Parts: sequence; C-alpha cells; structure tokens
Amino acid sequence: MKTENIVIAVDGPAASGKGTLSRRVASFYGLAYLDTGSLYRGVGWIMLSRGLSPRDVEDAEAAAQAFTLDQLDGADIRTPDVGRAASVVAAMPEVRDALLAFQRDFAAHPPSGLNGTVLDGRDIGTVVCPDATVKLFIDAAVDVRARRRWAELTQRDSSISFEQVLEDIKRRDQRDSSREAAPMKAAQDAHLIDTSELDIDAAFTVVRRAIDKTLMKSAMEG
Ligand code: CDP
Repeated sequence: MKTENIVIAVDGPAASGKGTLSRRVASFYGLAYLDTGSLYRGVGWIMLSRGLSPRDVEDAEAAAQAFTLDQLDGADIRTPDVGRAASVVAAMPEVRDALLAFQRDFAAHPPSGLNGTVLDGRDIGTVVCPDATVKLFIDAAVDVRARRRWAELTQRDSSISFEQVLEDIKRRDQRDSSREAAPMKAAQDAHLIDTSELDIDAAFTVVRRAIDKTLMKSAMEG
C-alpha cells in the first residue's frame, strides 16, 4: 500500500460531518490534519475584532497575507458571526490566493513521522490539491445539517433558534457554491458520501471503505 505523502481531500458544506470525519481519518491513518475553514474563519475573526468590514477587499487581503495560526490563540472562531464573515471574505479571490500557499505547503510537508495529510474545506479536491490521493465530498440534507449545528451552538448560547441556524446555513451554502472563485463543489473524481442517515461511526465506516479502495487501487497502479 502507498504510504508516502498521502493527501486526503475532504470537501462539503457546513455541518455535513466533514470536520469530525477528517479528524478521525487523520488519527486512524496516522496523518496530519488541517481544518482550512479555520483559516477563513481566522481572517473573518480578525476583520471583526479590528472593527473592519468583512466586505472590504483591501483590508481582508492584507489580513489574509499577514495571517498566521498563532494570531488565533484564544479567539472564538466558531460563532455564527465569524462563520458569516468567513464566507464573505472567502468569496474574494485575493483572500483565497493569499491562503493557498499555506494550504499547499501543509499538504506537501506533513510533520515528521506522519504519512501525509488530511485537509478539509470547500475546494480542496478541486483547487488546493487537485492531485490528492483520495477525494471525499461529504454532504447531508440541509435540515439535518442545521439540526446538528444548532445542537452544537446551543451548548454555548441557548438563545439561538433552529430557524436562525437553518437560515444561516442556507445563506452560506448559497454564497459558497455560487461564488466565482473556487466555488464549493465535488471534484469529478470524489467519492460522494451522504451522512443524512448515518451517525458518525457509520459514516466513518463508509469513509474508510472509500479510502481503502482508492489506496489499494493507487498502490496497484503505481
Ligand atoms: O464548519 P463549517 O462547515 O461551518 O465552516 P468552515 O469549514 O469552518 O468554513 C467557514 C467558511 O469558510 C465557509 O462557509 C466557506 O465560505 C469558507 N471556506 C472556503 O471557502 N474554502 C475552504 N477550503 C474552507 C472554508
């Protein structure tokens, strides 16, 4: 089986389960993990925390160019406001370009001792790592995703309503998939996995099967 610098690209919409699945995949196969959404959330958070408008392209580009993960120490980037700001700055080609090198560099140089990387996001299989060893597109029905995100968010803020979360996710799906720069879409060669009716263990079994099949095939070919 191919064991050198495996790249697993995991794309999909908000609350599809891709983050949890990616972390499990990384730990199961001994790979490093990068949540690329945290980079866009990071830029969104910087804009909001400096009182800047996330719609200002020049400021957002400057924030993305100067971005490092340690700027996020102690920052709460999982709030709905930061999610919205992330999706706004993520539609800017200038911001995407500024974050591209960081993501590709991470994929090319896993920390020593690890066999490769798992990156999750919206455009990993299509733009960031089009030659990824394995590509997964994780999806679920929008009301199922909204329910999952609502359950997560109400643990921190019990005033948030399900309708609000549903509306927010729909708006973000729309913005992420209709933008011109690297829209969210499944790569042609991605395994499509719908987790609407699967809990995380069942989804992980399906994901493992897809990964093992592809790794086996690429080992036989190469
Ligand atoms: O966790 P959730 O799925 O809600 O979102 P996330 O993965 O943290 O991403 C936040 C936002 O960043 C998304 O709505 C996208 O607009 C953007 N994003 C992107 O454009 N490209 C990526 N590779 C990752 C995230």
